[in-house]
Amino acid sequence: MAIQKVGVVGCGLMGSGIAQVSAQAGFPTTVCEVSPAVLEKGLGSIKKFLQGGVEKGKVAPYLMDKTLANLKGTARLEDLADCDIVVEAIVENLDAKRDLLGKLDAIVKPGATFASNTSSLSITEMAAFTKRPDRFIGLHFFNPVPLMKLVEVVRTVKTDATALQEANAWCLAIGKTVVSCGDSTGFVVNRLLVPYMIDAIRVFEEGLASRDDIDNAMKLGCGYPMGPLFLTDYVGLDTTASICQIMFDSFKEDRFKAPPLLTKMVAEGKFGRKSGKGFYDWSTNPPS
Ligand code: CAA
Ligand code: NAD
Repeated sequence: MAIQKVGVVGCGLMGSGIAQVSAQAGFPTTVCEVSPAVLEKGLGSIKKFLQGGVEKGKVAPYLMDKTLANLKGTARLEDLADCDIVVEAIVENLDAKRDLLGKLDAIVKPGATFASNTSSLSITEMAAFTKRPDRFIGLHFFNPVPLMKLVEVVRTVKTDATALQEANAWCLAIGKTVVSCGDSTGFVVNRLLVPYMIDAIRVFEEGLASRDDIDNAMKLGCGYPMGPLFLTDYVGLDTTASICQIMFDSFKEDRFKAPPLLTKMVAEGKFGRKSGKGFYDWSTNPPS
């Protein structure tokens, strides 16, 4: 059964982007948040992105209207009951995901596929929280979702071939390029990217170079579009710290340990771009 109706849980940085690209590609999409107020914020960021696209001449005004018409927001999981696929994009915390997946499993129709956008948690472990481990996969999107082309499609030993093929087809239909991947902590991209990001924090912490010199070094020396400290702000320092903890627990290698500065900044509420402060001050435009 091809995917027609799409559900997304979480309308933060990632969930808002996933819901947007799905609706933009013509799929009726319902996105669920914890409360109407948080939902409004997420939907507001989608409208802002689309509006920015219209102003840049990248999004036709009719496409913005069509996207918004395809998009429905809710604070009730019950509204996802008849979706063909539900993409989970809530906080990077196993207990929160376990609680959500148990509830979703009882609500969403049998035969629908569940996908997690987790950065680092085990898809196999999450699949076991449901009665549909054969229809549970990882769909790892990248931030910012509307601009980044990749989705890592993660299978487990139990994944049904048809469910995998349907999810692949949906990713292609929403304009993404897929790479397929087995279920190992961090998949391909974060296995390589996270140690790089947190090594940059260590370099900054030990005073080897300034923030701007570290970021410029990687941009101008290696051609990366963003420096690693700017990128960590973009990803979210809270999310990065959670990913580090999960990767360290999994691999038991010190290179995955959160640097003390990252832990301290998270404790201070400096989550990066989404909270207004991180390595950069995001209250100014451009960030300073
Ligand atoms: N609507 C439509 N198009 C838009 C847009 C909008 N609102 N805003 C920008 N664009 C378009 C631009 O017009 C431009 O298009 P062209 O290339 O055709 O000119 C393109 O998007 C790039 O936009 P900008 O020129 O404004 O911005 P940029 O060149 O600085 O690129 C970026 C922005 C794509 C985010 C780039 O900086 C980048 O690739 N950064 C790295 C991001 C990254 O590494 N993400 C992964 C994070 S890790 C992760 O996600 C995994 C995890 O689990 C933690
Ligand atoms: P975020 O903090 O921006 O958003 C998470 C959202 O989930 C919040 O708005 C929160 O209110 C909502 N939420 C929490 N519990 C919920 C529930 N039970 N029901 C509905 N909504 C709920 O986080 P994010 O950066 O969007 O990350 C979401 C997921 O995507 C995480 O698993 C993360 O690891 C992964 N991810 C993040 C990035 C990134 O760059 N930030 C990239 C790829 C994958």
